[in-house]
Amino acid sequence: MLRFLARQRGGPILPAMAEPHPAPDAAHDPSFAELIAGRPALSLDPASGLLVEEVPLARIAALHGTPSWVISAGTLRRRYRALAAALAGAGLSAAIHYAAKANDTLAVLRVLAAEGAGADVVSIGELRAAEAAGIPASRIVYSGVGKTRAELAAALAAGVFQINAESAEEIAMISETAAATGHVAPVALRVNPDVDARTHAKVTTGKAENKFGIAMSDAAALYARMAGMPGIRPVGLATHIGSQITSGMAAYRAAYARLADLARELLGRGLPMERIDCGGGLGITYRDEIAPPPEALAGAIAATVGKLGLPVMVEPGRWIAGPAGFLLASVILEKRTGARRFVVLDAAMNDLLRPALYDAWHGVLPVSPARLTAPTAPADLVGPVCETGDTFARGRLLPAFAEGDLVLFCDAGAYGSVMSSTYNARPLAAQVLVEGARMAVIRERQSEADLFRGQRIPDWLGG
Ligand code: LLP
Repeated sequence: MLRFLARQRGGPILPAMAEPHPAPDAAHDPSFAELIAGRPALSLDPASGLLVEEVPLARIAALHGTPSWVISAGTLRRRYRALAAALAGAGLSAAIHYAAKANDTLAVLRVLAAEGAGADVVSIGELRAAEAAGIPASRIVYSGVGKTRAELAAALAAGVFQINAESAEEIAMISETAAATGHVAPVALRVNPDVDARTHAKVTTGKAENKFGIAMSDAAALYARMAGMPGIRPVGLATHIGSQITSGMAAYRAAYARLADLARELLGRGLPMERIDCGGGLGITYRDEIAPPPEALAGAIAATVGKLGLPVMVEPGRWIAGPAGFLLASVILEKRTGARRFVVLDAAMNDLLRPALYDAWHGVLPVSPARLTAPTAPADLVGPVCETGDTFARGRLLPAFAEGDLVLFCDAGAYGSVMSSTYNARPLAAQVLVEGARMAVIRERQSEADLFRGQRIPDWLGG
């Protein structure tokens, strides 16, 4: 029997946890105790069960219902500060531009704004969200492989800090738009260093076959050309090689070394260069991945582009927001078909899409002390959506559940709520922010009426 390892909040040590039954799919799975111990936002109260910071999840469910996203402000702050400290500790003059796509809820952006974060945005919607949350345009980078002229004009009018350009065609559009509106666009050239970050194919971005950036071989000529174009102020180079990178620092180092060589060549030709944007991508531990610490990223930057003596930028999303967020759901029922056991939740792929889209593994915890210590057996954890892909986990070791039991998905703070949809006419879940003993709804659950807002039945159909 495993002793229960989770940090306790003043209470007695819980009874020993049941030894997991060996199951092939679960061989690499951390135990409940390990999941809790590895997530500082979580702790266990022997009476009320799992807490996020100081708030019992059972209370959140009782007050706000399920499914609900729960975000730990303290974790956002702690991770932002840890990254900033790692960059400063490596002797870098570095700015953190949080990738808003990971979680663009206004209150999340506000927490990070208060920590001093800038933002990396990829749409006017994200730009407006960042500004509304208190991140000034002067700290916002506008990225993305395709920006319309209207978006470019809006970004220039807002006065963004930097536009990352990804093609000669786009640079022409930026030049024309800026010249026509009387702006000078601060443009960084995003290069594709052709390195393999060895992450999921759907989130790798720095290989030659990916749609992102400009080939290294074309970059110097294009940068030089950009310097002579109306409405453009070349400000530097950018790259981003992929997301959820846990394969060590080799790909980062290779990409940054190429970027540094290119920067030296351009500086040697007398071209202006104010800064280097090192992108995001630092991975986190969902299951048993060894996630590199931020010090490793800082070290890779310092050893390469850091040697140029220019200010650097990073664009992390997942590393900051991922471990700060959870998805709280209720069990609708358990069913068996033949030998297989299914736990059906009130959350589904429309809420948390990552397992369906990337076969992503998320830690799942029962919330009540009794369920955390009960014997476990393999089960498939599914949602009620009418697709087989609506499967969160297969062969996961879980206790026997009853209707209404709460379960918690870990590490859902990045690319969780932002990728939700209303598929199967399911309202978007509520979002709750926790800070210490405080909690607040930061996005209301959609109502049934919200689902049909903006729709019309034409006259000729009797509308
Ligand atoms: N900068 C750029 C230009 C990006 O495209 C991205 C992410 C980031 C920064 C932030 O990357 P991060 O630090 O979060 O890895 N939906 C996928 C992840 C897509 C990432 C897209 N780009 C997932 O759920 O795994």
